[in-house]
Amino acid sequence: MSRFTDRVCLITGGASGIGAETARRIVKEGGRVVISDIDDTLGEALAAEIGDHACYTHGDVSDPAACAAMIALTIEEFGRLDGLVNSAIRMGPTALVDLSHDDWRKVVDVGLTGTFLMTQAAGRWWIEHDKAAAVVNLSSTGGLQPYNLAGAYSTTKAGVIMLSKQFGLEWARHNIRVNTVCPGHTETPLTAYMRDPAVKQARADVTPLGRVGQTDDIAEGILYLLSDAASYVTSSELVIDGGMSTSLFNHMPGRKWD
Ligand SMILES: NC(=O)c1ccc[n+]([C@@H]2O[C@H](COP(=O)([O-])OP(=O)(O)OC[C@H]3O[C@@H](n4cnc5c(N)ncnc54)[C@H](O)[C@@H]3O)[C@@H](O)[C@H]2O)c1
Repeated sequence: MSRFTDRVCLITGGASGIGAETARRIVKEGGRVVISDIDDTLGEALAAEIGDHACYTHGDVSDPAACAAMIALTIEEFGRLDGLVNSAIRMGPTALVDLSHDDWRKVVDVGLTGTFLMTQAAGRWWIEHDKAAAVVNLSSTGGLQPYNLAGAYSTTKAGVIMLSKQFGLEWARHNIRVNTVCPGHTETPLTAYMRDPAVKQARADVTPLGRVGQTDDIAEGILYLLSDAASYVTSSELVIDGGMSTSLFNHMPGRKWD
């Protein structure tokens, strides 16, 4: 028996990148997945690639009615829901001084409010039906420290960490665990600039483990937190970044012991 045999997980932003790899891995380990996204072409193609144990549904996480509908569809399709992964994101790479209210709202609505709405909708179902479950929310190392020229994103991701801790505490008595994964730079469509070999190499050079992250590095952490192996872990965050966010002193000029 595999870790996810008989388990059903719903993944928002599941059509691409980290969410897509997580969907593939859960099914490889015996589970079934509902992939939700707003990119229907990618989402349908991924569900077809994975096969019978996956289905795709259009779902905009910034819309409360759509969030409730995604939970209802999962129950209708597969009869249960054991895990939720909130991976959907929109980026707004602009200095805060120039960021429009509209662009600020788009980043926060998807990354933070969307995570709140989806987690709340799933939790309401679990609590009503007295089910144990696990949620993994995608934050970022950019949620642990300011991310220059992406202040709406880093503020959103910092909020995701606190939101997850908050849900985790509120729901511990229901045995619903809520944790966060904080990836560092990971090769996905979101970080298409890393397709430039010079950029990728330069980033590898400043990462203690000597390479940039891949989607399976992050999916491995997500699967751990969803699984029973993490049954005593909640309100916690897992940083998966090759040591990058703790390497500040590697970049200080003048150190004599390199
Ligand atoms: N790639 C990285 O380097 C990196 C680093 C740190 C954190 N993360 C986080 O990991 C998660 C996944 O990132 P990724 O790199 O796989 O990104 P990605 O761009 O490959 O995937 C994000 C998905 O979210 C979907 N999406 C956008 N708006 C949506 C909405 N309103 N409702 C539903 N879906 C929506 C997109 O269509 C896309 O398929 C994100 O939360 C991101 O912030 C990524």
